[in-house]
Amino acid sequence: MEQDQTMKDWLENLMTCQACHLRQEGNRGPTRYTGNITSPLMFVGEGPGGVEDEYGVPLVGPSGQLLDKALWSVGLTRDRVYVTNIVKCRPKNNRTPTLDEGRHCADIHLVKEIDLVQPKVIVCLGKVAFQYFYGKAASIMRNRGKWFTWRGYPVMPTYHPAFLLRQTGHDLVESKWQVYYDFKAAVEKAKAENPDYTYQSPEKTNLLEQYTALKESRSF
Ligand code: URA
Repeated sequence: MEQDQTMKDWLENLMTCQACHLRQEGNRGPTRYTGNITSPLMFVGEGPGGVEDEYGVPLVGPSGQLLDKALWSVGLTRDRVYVTNIVKCRPKNNRTPTLDEGRHCADIHLVKEIDLVQPKVIVCLGKVAFQYFYGKAASIMRNRGKWFTWRGYPVMPTYHPAFLLRQTGHDLVESKWQVYYDFKAAVEKAKAENPDYTYQSPEKTNLLEQYTALKESRSF
């Protein structure tokens, strides 16, 4: 109840945010989170693309569809994990947010979000998320699957689903397996901390259906 109330305040603050130029870059406004606010597992992506801007939530476009499949393969559903982004407003022309834009947005919103959710494990999807938590530029290729600690939270970087979507042949097979093992390690760690939580619903979550009303309420 307490967490719900504070989450409501956090959301209100997010939805009225004008703290940087990204809000002016021709998008429909900030995107929120998907999933369960009591989840031990948090996944942090980069920033919204076109579909996410339309629906108002993270990772529901092509990358999100792949993420959902990968989650299912390790016994997770989207309604049972918490998914969010470093940057909440879609940068113009889908460009990758800069490290400074990521820092500015995440220092205001994501840090508070993490304190509210208090996940047992944070998984960074891709370079933008990894570099925010890691505090400096570092190779995701060399660091994926490794644990480090951010403000007491165990954090693991892995590839962004968009990276997998760009791979073909042997590279694709290899990187899919790497993500699978990274996700598996993250679930194991979360389960060791919180074995009683339900990590998977019987059915996959249909986020596009779930957020149709939110989509209809969003406009330029
Ligand atoms: N990529 C991300 O990292 N987040 C989204 O919400 C969409 C694409």
